[in-house]
Amino acid sequence: MSKLPSIYYQISLFFFLSLTSHQTLSLTQNEEQSILLKLKQHWYSPPSIQSWTPSSNASQCDTWTGITCTNGTVTAISLSNNNITGKIPPFICNLEKLVEINFSNNSFSGEFPRSLYNCSNLEIFVLHHNEFNGTLGAEIGHLTNLEVLRLDYNDFVPGTLPLGFGKLKKLRYLSMTSSNLIGEIPESVVDLSNLEHLDLSKNDLRGEIPQGLLSLTNLTNLYLYNNNLSGEIPRLIRALNLVEIDLSTNSLNGSIPEGFGDLKYLKYVSLNANKLSGEIPESIGGNSKLQVFDVSKNGLIGKLPENLCGGNVLVRIAAYINNLGGEIPRSLVNCTSLMSIVLYNNSFSGEIPSGLWSLNNLRSFGISKNGFSGELPDRLTSSLRRLRISNNSFSGKIPSGMSFSKDLAIFDGSGNYFSGKIPLDLTKLENLLTLALTGNSLSGEIPSNIISWKSLTTLNLGSNMITGEIPRAVGFLPDLLELDLSGNRLSGEIPSEIGHLKLAYLNLSSNQLNGKVPHEFDNPTFDSSFLNNYGLCAGNPLLKLGSCISKTHNSRILSSLLIMVIIVLATTIFLVAVFFAIFVIRGHRKRKRERDICVWKLTAFQTLEFDELNILSNLTENNLIGSGSSGKVYRVSIGRSGKSVAVKKIWNKGELDQELEKEFESEIQILGTIKHSNIVKLLCCISNEISKLLVYEYMVNYSLDRWLHGKARWSLASSSGSVYHVVLDWPRRLQIAIGAAQGLSYLHHDCSQPIIHRDVKSSNILLDSEFNARIADFGLAKKLVTLGEPDTISIIAGSFGYIAPG
Ligand SMILES: *[C@@H]1O[C@H](CO)[C@@H](O)[C@H](O)[C@H]1NC(C)=O
Ligand SMILES: *[C@@H]1O[C@H](CO)[C@@H](O)[C@H](O)[C@H]1NC(C)=O
Ligand SMILES: *[C@@H]1O[C@H](CO)[C@@H](O)[C@H](O)[C@H]1NC(C)=O
Ligand SMILES: *[C@@H]1O[C@H](CO)[C@@H](O)[C@H](O)[C@H]1NC(C)=O
Ligand SMILES: *[C@@H]1O[C@H](CO)[C@@H](O)[C@H](O)[C@H]1NC(C)=O
Ligand SMILES: *[C@@H]1O[C@H](CO)[C@@H](O)[C@H](O)[C@H]1NC(C)=O
Ligand SMILES: *[C@@H]1O[C@H](CO)[C@@H](O)[C@H](O)[C@H]1NC(C)=O
Ligand SMILES: *[C@@H]1O[C@H](CO)[C@@H](O)[C@H](O)[C@H]1NC(C)=O
Ligand SMILES: *[C@@H]1O[C@H](CO)[C@@H](O)[C@H](O)[C@H]1NC(C)=O
Ligand SMILES: *[C@@H]1O[C@H](CO)[C@@H](O)[C@H](O)[C@H]1NC(C)=O
Ligand SMILES: *[C@@H]1O[C@H](CO)[C@@H](O)[C@H](O)[C@H]1NC(C)=O
Ligand SMILES: *[C@@H]1O[C@H](CO)[C@@H](O)[C@H](O)[C@H]1NC(C)=O
Repeated sequence: MSKLPSIYYQISLFFFLSLTSHQTLSLTQNEEQSILLKLKQHWYSPPSIQSWTPSSNASQCDTWTGITCTNGTVTAISLSNNNITGKIPPFICNLEKLVEINFSNNSFSGEFPRSLYNCSNLEIFVLHHNEFNGTLGAEIGHLTNLEVLRLDYNDFVPGTLPLGFGKLKKLRYLSMTSSNLIGEIPESVVDLSNLEHLDLSKNDLRGEIPQGLLSLTNLTNLYLYNNNLSGEIPRLIRALNLVEIDLSTNSLNGSIPEGFGDLKYLKYVSLNANKLSGEIPESIGGNSKLQVFDVSKNGLIGKLPENLCGGNVLVRIAAYINNLGGEIPRSLVNCTSLMSIVLYNNSFSGEIPSGLWSLNNLRSFGISKNGFSGELPDRLTSSLRRLRISNNSFSGKIPSGMSFSKDLAIFDGSGNYFSGKIPLDLTKLENLLTLALTGNSLSGEIPSNIISWKSLTTLNLGSNMITGEIPRAVGFLPDLLELDLSGNRLSGEIPSEIGHLKLAYLNLSSNQLNGKVPHEFDNPTFDSSFLNNYGLCAGNPLLKLGSCISKTHNSRILSSLLIMVIIVLATTIFLVAVFFAIFVIRGHRKRKRERDICVWKLTAFQTLEFDELNILSNLTENNLIGSGSSGKVYRVSIGRSGKSVAVKKIWNKGELDQELEKEFESEIQILGTIKHSNIVKLLCCISNEISKLLVYEYMVNYSLDRWLHGKARWSLASSSGSVYHVVLDWPRRLQIAIGAAQGLSYLHHDCSQPIIHRDVKSSNILLDSEFNARIADFGLAKKLVTLGEPDTISIIAGSFGYIAPG
C-alpha cells in the first residue's frame, strides 16, 4: 500500500528535477541576445552587424546577420569577410550550444583566442585570414568535438604543431597554410583517423612526412608544398580515396611510390621541385581520372607512363628539368582534354606523334632542349599559344599553315635545322609576342609586311642565311624590345625608323650592312650591336666601326696619330707593353660580354608563376608606374589570376665593372633569401649585360608617404571592382609603424648576416592590400660585415644596382 505513492512521488520528483535542471542549464533567448549585444559592443558596433538590434520578440535567430539557431538556440556565428577588427572575447563561450564559429577574413588581432578552447561543443572553428599572433597551445586538444579547423594566413609566432592535435580525433579538415609552422610534422597527426583534408603548405616544416600519413584511409586532399620536408614519400598507401596531392617545393628524395598508380580517384599530382629519382610508376593515370601531373625539376629517369591520359581528362603534363627519355607516349594523341605539355630540358627523342599537333585544346607545347626530330606538320592546332621547340633536331620548312594558329604568341624554334624561307603567311599571326628562329638554316628575305606583328617584343633571327634588306616595317613594331638579326647576309642601310624603337637588346653584327648607324644607337650602349659589318660607319669610336667623316680628313687624323704613336714608341717601349696587356684583357672581357649579352638570365628566389618572357613582353609604356635617372618601374600582371608584380628595370650605362657586377649578384642573392612579412619580397632577378630587372611583389596601396603627404584619401578599387575611400586611421598607422619596426628588427637581428637599410623613409615603406608595412628599396641596404670594422660599410655604399630610380 505504501509503495505506490512512493513510486509516484519519485517519478514526479524526477520530472521536476529534470525540468528545473533543464531551465538552469540552457539560456533563454533573451540571455543569448544580451551576450550577442555585448559582443557587438565589444567590437564597437561595426556597420556589418547593424542588424543586431535589441528586440522584445527575440529575433536574433531570424534577422541577425551571421547568426544561426537550432530549436531557438544560437548554434553558429558566421561573420566571414566582414571587416571586423578587434579581439574575440571569452564570453562567446557563454553561448553554450555553439557548434560553429566562422570569422574568416576579418581583422581580429592580438594573441590567439585560446579562451575559445572552453567552447567545448565546437565542431567548426574557422579563423583563417586574420591577424592573430601568439601560439596555439597544447590545450587545443580540449576541443574534442572539432571536425573542421582552419587557421591559415595568420601571424602566429613561429612554432610547432602542438602535440594536443592528436586528441582531435573527429577532425576531418585541418588547414594551416602560411601559419609560420616550424619543426617536424608530429607523428600524432596519424592519430587523426578521420582526416580528409590536410593543408600545411607554405610553412617552414622540415624532417620527414610521418610514415602513417598516407595510411589515413579517409584522406582525400594532402597539401604540404613549399616547406622543407626531406626523406622519402611514405611507401605504404592506404589512403585509397586520395584525390589531390601536392608535395611540391620540398627536399623529398627516393622514388615516386608505385602505389600512386592504384589510386582510383587521383586527379591532381604535383611533386615538382624536389629531389626525386628513379622511374615514374608505369600505372599512373591508367586507373583514375588524372587531370594534372607535374613532376618537374627532379632527377627522374625512364619514360613518361603510357597511360597518363587513361581517364581522358588530363589537362596538364609537366615534367621539365629531369632526365626522362624515350618518345612521347603515342596514346596522348587521343587526349583531347590536354592543354599543356611541358617537357623541356630532358632527353626525349624520336618524332612527335603526328596527332599531337592537332589536339583541339592544346595551348602550350614546350619541349625545348631535348632530342626530338622530324618536321612540323602543315597545320598546327588553332588553339596553340606557346610553341617552344628550341634546341632539338627538327628540320624541313616552317609551314605556312602555322598561320591558322591565330592565337600563337610564342614561337621559339631556335637551334634546329629548319631551312627554306620564313613564310609570308607567318605575318598573319597578329598576336605574336616572340618569334625566335636563331641558329637554323633559313634563307630568303625577311617578309616586308611584318607590320602586322603589332605586339611583337622579341624578334630573333640570328645565325641563319637570310638575305636582302632589313624591312623598314621593323621600325614600326611599337613594343619591340629585342632584335637580333646577327650572323646573316643582310645588306643595304639600316632603316632610320629602327632608331625610334626602345630596344633593350639589339644585334645586327656580322652582316653586310652599310651606311650610317642611326644616331640613336651611336653610343657605347650599342658597342656590340654592329660589329663586323664592313660598310657601316659611326661617329662614336667605341662602336669600333669606320668613322663617317670624309676620307681626306680621316687620313690626316690617321697620320697625326701615327706620328704620335711613333713618338710614344720612341720615348718608351715599356708603355707599349702596358698597352698590350690592356688589350689582351679588354679582348677577353669583350668576348665574355658578347657571350653573355644574348642571354636573359633568370635567378628565381621562389617558385614563380611566370617566366622571363612574361615579364619582358610587358615592359610597355602602358605598364609604366614610375621612372627616374637609373631606371623605370613597371607594373606587370602575371598569369590568369590577375596578380601583379612590380618590375624595376635598371639600365647599365656602359661597361659594367666586374667587381660591381659580382657585388650586385651577391647582394641580390642575400635580398632574395630574406623572407619576412614586413619586407617586400624579391621574387627574382632577370638580367643580361645591358639591363637588370628586379621583380618584386606588387604592393597595391603604394607607399606610406603618398598617404601621409599626398592626398589624405585615396580612391581604391576593391577586388570586387567597386571604389571606396579609405583614410589612414590611427590603428592603421600604428599597425604600419609596428610592421616597419618588425621588418627592421628582422634585418638587424634575425638575418644570418645583419643588414642595415640606411635609407628608411616613408617612401620606402610600401603598403600591401591589408595596409601592412613592407620595407622596400634596399637602395642603400648594406650587409654588416659582422667581423670586420664598421668602415667597410662605406666602401660598399652607393653600389649601382641599388640606387632607387627616382
Ligand atoms: C518582432 O517584433 C517587431 C515589432 O515589435 C515585428 O515588426 C517583427 O516582425 C517581429 N519579428 C518576429 C520574427 O516576429
Ligand atoms: C530540436 O528539437 C527536436 C524536437 O524537439 C529534436 O528532435 C531535435 O533533436 C532538436 N535538435 C537539436 C539539434 O537539439
Ligand atoms: C566560413 O564562411 C564563409 C563565408 O560565409 C564560407 O564561404 C565558408 O565555407 C565557411 N567555412 C566553413 C568551414 O564553413
Ligand atoms: C576578404 O573580404 C574582403 C571583403 O571584406 C574580400 O574583398 C576579399 O576577397 C576577402 N578575401 C578572402 C581571401 O576571402
Ligand atoms: C569593408 O569596409 C569597406 C570600407 O572600409 C566597405 O566599403 C565595405 O562595404 C566593407 N565590407 C563589408 C562586408 O562590410
Ligand atoms: C600580438 O599583437 C599584439 C597587438 O595586436 C601585441 O601587443 C603583442 O605583443 C603581439 N604578440 C606577439 C607575441 O607578437
Ligand atoms: C575555461 O573554463 C574554466 C572553467 O569553466 C575556467 O576556469 C577557465 O578560466 C576558462 N578559461 C578561459 C581561458 O576562459
Ligand atoms: C571515414 O569515412 C567514412 C565514410 O564517410 C566514415 O564512415 C568513417 O567513420 C570515417 N573514418 C574512418 C576512420 O574510417
Ligand atoms: C632544408 O633542410 C635541409 C636539411 O634537411 C637544410 O640543409 C637546408 O638548408 C634547408 N633549406 C632551407 C631553405 O631551409
Ligand atoms: C634521402 O635523404 C636522406 C637524408 O635526408 C638520406 O638519408 C637518404 O639516404 C636519402 N634516400 C635516398 C633514396 O636517396
Ligand atoms: C637542365 O637540367 C640540368 C640538370 O638538371 C641543369 O643543370 C640545367 O641547368 C638545366 N637547364 C635549364 C635551362 O634549366
Ligand atoms: C585513338 O583512338 C582511336 C579510336 O578510339 C583508336 O582506334 C586508336 O588506336 C587510338 N590511338 C592510340 C595511339 O591509342
